[in-house]
Amino acid sequence: MSRLIVISNRVSRPGKAGNQGGLAVALSQALRESRGIWVGWSGEVTENFTGQIGFAEDDGVKTATIDLEEQDVDEYYNGYANKTLWPLFHFRIDLAEYERDFEGGYNRVNQRFADTTSPLIEPEDIIWVQDYHMIPLGRMLRDRGHDNRMGFFLHIPWPPTRLLVSLPHHTKLVEALFAYDVVGFHTEEWLESFRHYVEREMGGSVNGDLVTLGDRTIQAIACPIGINAQAFATAAVSEAASDMYEKVRRSLQDRAMIVGVDRLDYSKGLEERFNGYARFLKDHAEHHRNVVLTQIAPPSRGEVESYQQIRATLDALAGRINGEYSDVDWTPIRYVNQGYPRDKLAGIYRAAKIGLVTPLRDGMNLVAKEYVAAQNPEDPGVLILSRFAGAAQQLKDALLINPYSPEEMSDAITRALAMPLDERKRRWRAMMDSVEQQDISWWRQRFTERLMAVQRKGEVKT
Ligand code: G6P
Repeated sequence: MSRLIVISNRVSRPGKAGNQGGLAVALSQALRESRGIWVGWSGEVTENFTGQIGFAEDDGVKTATIDLEEQDVDEYYNGYANKTLWPLFHFRIDLAEYERDFEGGYNRVNQRFADTTSPLIEPEDIIWVQDYHMIPLGRMLRDRGHDNRMGFFLHIPWPPTRLLVSLPHHTKLVEALFAYDVVGFHTEEWLESFRHYVEREMGGSVNGDLVTLGDRTIQAIACPIGINAQAFATAAVSEAASDMYEKVRRSLQDRAMIVGVDRLDYSKGLEERFNGYARFLKDHAEHHRNVVLTQIAPPSRGEVESYQQIRATLDALAGRINGEYSDVDWTPIRYVNQGYPRDKLAGIYRAAKIGLVTPLRDGMNLVAKEYVAAQNPEDPGVLILSRFAGAAQQLKDALLINPYSPEEMSDAITRALAMPLDERKRRWRAMMDSVEQQDISWWRQRFTERLMAVQRKGEVKT
């Protein structure tokens, strides 16, 4: 088995977390089996960049991390990644900032990752770069002479061409993707937008999965990420989950709970969600006191102004809605700015009659899948899902809504609260089948198989 080398901005250390994301679980397993390495930023900031690699091994997974200096973090992570690419790729050109220094910092840090990774690479290794922080890395590794099989996966949406062209040097960024052999997106929609850009803006051509630009042909595929469905369903009945479930149920006193769990990010549609819920409260006085919305929103990327703003907006909005509708013994919104370990989270999902997942744009959204996996099959809750989340392409039995419409949100909540058990079971079963079949291992295998099948120069097919 070829060694897998994963490179991403964040590196998850399995031993430390005990609370890992699905991506970390999937990749850790493959890294362990192939004796591979996970390369990325340590999360630490040093005064001056040293290039020193910190090696560690946790639970059989080797990691190689580097510290970055403050200017790197400002220009690359806060800057180009989170002030430029993130908003633009989530269709928010109004929030995107185009600063030459950001682009410079992005390229500099990617060069640093290329320098770090290059000496670790052996000819048979398979290299898999993750997400928008690292788009140019493959090109930089090729420039250092590595002709390994190289894949790239984008975990966020790919924007429409008419938006992407607002980015200075957009062609250069997209050209860099042609250094990889396989490029993956979560949905057909993001893939189509990518192809459209290559054809219209670059004069490239598309033939099935193959996309050609000049003398480079790559495979561009849609490959939706999943969760570790079995493990999540098991976690939902663990002791920690059951304790949490009981605690939440007790606090609800027979009220129905609606749950939202999101990083505090403007792309998640939290403002629209609160407004939709307020609309529901306004139009349905008969449900007052019977329903509680629990919104879990751990703060994220707090050094970026647009995140500070959305936080302030949500603080005010939650306060206003609660002020308007609360009674001495009922608060309609429980707004919680902390994260929970996965098993506790699974218990919270299970205690909720409705999962409310309303991003304005989302590459995939795994909360939707986790909510489904955590349900009690005998009495499952209802998922209300934004049609603009990648997950909506698979979870067609959710109540799909337009998150910009408060009426649609209010109607969906009303419908979900009244949904008969038969219908809830039928919808849940169909969604659970998809979550179980297209799980995290399926995603990883599907992508790496594509990559393994790529022929390298001078190689003879046997
Ligand atoms: C999204 C991105 C990931 C990122 C995560 C958390 O899911 O696709 O690459 O790691 O958000 O954001 P953060 O900036 O905290 O790493």
